[in-house]
Formats: sequence, C-alpha cells, structure tokens
Amino acid sequence: MHDDMPRTARITGMGGALPERVLTNEDLERIVDTSDEWIATRTGIRQRHMVADDEALSDLVVRAGAAALEDAGLEPGEIDLFILATATPEQPIPATSAIVQPRLGLVNAACFDLSAACSGFVYAVNVARQFITTGEARRVLVVGAECLTRYVDWTDRTTCVLFGDGAGAIVLEPAEPGDGILRTAWRTDGRYADLIQMPGGGCRFPPNRPETLEARLPFIKMRGNETFKVAVRALTEISLGVLTEAGIEPGDLDLFIPHQANIRIIQAVGNRLGLPAEKVYINVDRVGNTSAASIPLAMIDAVRDGRLKRGDLALATAFGGGLTWASMLFRF
Ligand code: COA
Repeated sequence: MHDDMPRTARITGMGGALPERVLTNEDLERIVDTSDEWIATRTGIRQRHMVADDEALSDLVVRAGAAALEDAGLEPGEIDLFILATATPEQPIPATSAIVQPRLGLVNAACFDLSAACSGFVYAVNVARQFITTGEARRVLVVGAECLTRYVDWTDRTTCVLFGDGAGAIVLEPAEPGDGILRTAWRTDGRYADLIQMPGGGCRFPPNRPETLEARLPFIKMRGNETFKVAVRALTEISLGVLTEAGIEPGDLDLFIPHQANIRIIQAVGNRLGLPAEKVYINVDRVGNTSAASIPLAMIDAVRDGRLKRGDLALATAFGGGLTWASMLFRF
C-alpha cells in the first residue's frame, strides 16, 4: 500500500429529487379499496411522490446528480465513476446511468447500474468506497433512484399504497481514516427471493409474450407480512454487527437512518437497538417506500431538518428484495 493511498471515502455533496406530483392516501381511496386510516396506522405513510406521464428515471437522476455536484463544488468532468442503484431502470439496454451520463456531462466517468433493490444505495456506497480506497477512483457519484409507481399493480391494494418515486445522490471523495464511511456490511439471502419480486418482463417471462401481461407478471409483488418479520430481524442484526465491529455502542450514534418502508418496522428496530425516538430518522410519511432512493433521501431530509450535522456519527441500514440488506457507519 502506498503511503499516500486514501483509506476511505467521505460524503462531500448531496442532492435529492422528488417528482412534483403528490399522491395522497385520499387519492388512493379513489383507486383501490383502502383508507387513509389503514395506510397511516399500518405503514406510517401519508403521501408519496409520483412521476408525471412524461417523466422517467433519468429525469430524477439528472436533477439529484446535478444538485449533489453543485453541493460538492465539483465540475461534472471531475467525476471518474458513476454508480446508479435502481430496481426500476428506464429501459433494459442501455443502463440508465449511461443515459444520464451525457445529460450530466460526466465525460470522464465509467458508469454502471447496480441492482440490489432497496439495499442498492448502501451496496453502491460500499462499491464506491472500495474504488476510492484503492485509488482506482477519486470522485464518485452514487445515486439511488426509483420510479416504482411505473411498476406497481394499481389493482393490488397490498402493494400500490406503499411505493413512491424519487432520487438521492451523493458525491464521495477520499478521506483520512476515522472520517467518512467508517464501516460497511452487506448480506444477500436468495432463498427468500420470492418475498419481494417483479417476476415478469425479463427473459423468464418475457415482455414479448402476451401471457406475461395477462398474468400481471411485470408488477411488484410482495408477501408483506413475512417480509415484515425478516426485515426487523435483518435490520437489527446487521446494524448491531457493524456497531460491534467498530466498537461503538448504539447510544454513541447521533442519528440512525433506517430504510423507510414502514414506520412499525423502523420503530421496532429502533427499540431493539435501544435508541430514543429522537435518534431515529423518519420521513416515510412524506415519501413512502422509495427503495434505493430511500436512504439518500432520508439523509438529505435529515440534513435539512438539522438532525444530521457535519461531524455527526450516523448509521444507515437498508433492507429489500433479494433478499438484500446492508449497513454503513459514517462520520458525516
Ligand atoms: N387497505 C386496506 N386493507 C388492506 C390493505 C390496504 N391497502 N392492504 C392489505 N389490507 C388488508 C389485507 O387484505 C388483510 O385483510 P384480511 O385480514 O381480511 O385478509 C389485512 O389488511 C391485513 O393484511 P396484512 O398483510 O397481514 O397486513 P400487515 O399488517 O402485515 O401490513 C404491510 C401490510 C405490507 C403494510 C406490512 O406487512 C409491511 O409493511 N411489510 C413489510 C414491507 C417491507 O418492509 N418491504 C421492504 C422491502 S421493500
């Protein structure tokens, strides 16, 4: 290892994008047999954002990415790696990150999409951090973004009330040990692949067969109740694991930023970690479950709310389809 080799990566800029259109629980009452009361008490969600008919994923990513670059004070050409975490790409070929590249002017960046569902952003940060640590990359743009409302089944009340659209971006740059991303962990358990899935639209049930659409296969399907239990256990275990490895007590954290899927999951995990409510960040009420965009959007909101400040010690933990789960401890 070279003496001048950077040891880790820190967040030097952030930017978010939400579509203008808001879909409230009352709006959903007119679409499926549900109620504001059911959605609010079971999930904590009151509204979510939804792309306009002429909007798509790249539009959100461009907005979020440009804001993060400006926040970091960088020119687009200074970025040498761009990772877009998404489960809802604009099209299968090319990667949405490639579609975004010329629009953001990332002329010197290698670009790829990363698929790890709701854990995608934390997975992408982990990948970016490795490249910065080895010196292979110096400035990395990491974006988590989704257009989930394009993939929900508007006749399925058990899923269509949960998801929203959005994008959250960060810029990572080299940092001294003890600063920035301090520790990460990631896990996958494909035995539970059928708990959260979109079975159709790929090569198993291809879009060019009418029966794929007739069987409503290119839509998000979730076994919510079973997912709930696994989510609480996995989020708690990986959070405690990362903290233990770092020699940090949960009480030393300034803020815990969990994946925003359901307020009852968030509160159960917060309780298991022994954290008071003011140390657990919640914005699921305003944005719903935005999958890979969930953690970065929550980080951005937490900064705006004055809950996450420079120098704070924070833990962000995600969980989602795969199943995948991942956690990152960072000094902001
Ligand atoms: N409106 C009204 N009733 C609804 C409803 C809705 N939108 N969705 C489901 N119900 C009904 C069900 O049909 C069921 O009725 P029944 O008892 O007559 O069969 C009842 O509510 C309870 O359903 P259940 O699925 O057991 O509810 P739940 O308390 O588990 O809540 C979720 C459902 C989806 C909110 C919850 O399971 C959840 O959040 N799961 C985890 C999701 C998650 O974390 N995903 C993360 C990865 S993306």
